[in-house]
Amino acid sequence: MTMTSKAWVYQQRGMPWEVLSLTTRDTPTFPPLTPLPRDAPEPEEWVLVRVAYAGLNPGAIFQMTLVPPLVRSRDCVADLDFTGTVIDVWHPEDKPGRFARGDKVSGMIPASHALPTGTGALAEVIRLPARYVVAKPASVSLGDAACLLPGLTARQLVNESEAKSGDRVLVNAASGGIGTMVVQMVRQVVGENGFIVGVCSGKNAEMVKGLGVDEVIDYTQHTSVARYIAERFSDTPFDAVIDTLGHHSLWLASPAFLKPAGIYESVGIKPPTFYVPDFLRAVWQMQVNAFWPTSRWFGGVGREWRATSMMSPTLEDRQAVIDMLGSGQC
Ligand SMILES: NC(=O)c1ccc[n+]([C@@H]2O[C@H](COP(=O)([O-])OP(=O)(O)OC[C@H]3O[C@@H](n4cnc5c(N)ncnc54)[C@H](OP(=O)(O)O)[C@@H]3O)[C@@H](O)[C@H]2O)c1
Repeated sequence: MTMTSKAWVYQQRGMPWEVLSLTTRDTPTFPPLTPLPRDAPEPEEWVLVRVAYAGLNPGAIFQMTLVPPLVRSRDCVADLDFTGTVIDVWHPEDKPGRFARGDKVSGMIPASHALPTGTGALAEVIRLPARYVVAKPASVSLGDAACLLPGLTARQLVNESEAKSGDRVLVNAASGGIGTMVVQMVRQVVGENGFIVGVCSGKNAEMVKGLGVDEVIDYTQHTSVARYIAERFSDTPFDAVIDTLGHHSLWLASPAFLKPAGIYESVGIKPPTFYVPDFLRAVWQMQVNAFWPTSRWFGGVGREWRATSMMSPTLEDRQAVIDMLGSGQC
């Protein structure tokens, strides 16, 4: 008898509340469907996971609103981050696997697998290559571990910012999914002698201080946060800025509060809406920022701008983030 289970599925492009519907479908089983997907073309270990928690991410809204049905599976399950219990394992006979039934795991489905196969986190049961999944440490709850995507993004932002022991670092959107992890990772890097300023709303000030921020700027209290930061920190500029939201205007103003050799590390540029023209404008601006000379002599902003691109994190990257969670570093 075929078993069924539920998933939040979209077919058309649009905002989640317009296009998502709770759908009953055949529960995925093994062996994996053939032909195998392009991201995992050879037989390798696959797992079937009964989902406990799914982590919601703005990136999933970009997938729903921007990717045309022609270049993805017709039926797509939404979102990318999940935790759960392995209920079945499949692997080639000659290759031992990493997982057994009953293992608790945390997974992040990359767009390269999610879009062509329609696989997503908002499902009761997920079938996917085991390389996208890591064992959940016993010390971390299933709810807390459903955060690999913001964790991977945060880790890359902190590494690329080149922050080091004793540095002064500004974190924009310090209270967000990425920002809260960035703050904790930066504190590990800069140590007790470092100084971290976080921008968030006042309601989250105490929370981000608890994570390691020394001073909070409440963006709701300033007409121009960039101007306030410039006034407050022009005499004590930062060694690095980590912008977990992507405020282009903050980068343009950064020479007033970021040291000349400091890096402005950003998740990208936040489009004002999820509509295609705004997204394309943001992508175009990111390309310009990446290639335009930094030097003011050549019309540049005067500070280096870098952007993360989390399109294909490896198993080692996932393991590094779950290890940080397991050891209490974030
Ligand atoms: N490049 C990548 O690899 C990558 C990966 C994942 C996500 N992203 C992008 O990164 C962005 C953040 O993702 P997330 O998951 O962290 O989002 P999130 O959890 O929704 O957090 C967003 C945060 O932004 C803060 N915020 C809102 N307006 C602000 C302002 N004017 N100034 C400063 N902070 C403000 C909010 O603070 P309060 O709640 O305190 O108001 C909130 O905590 C999204 O646009 C997402 O698409 C990029």
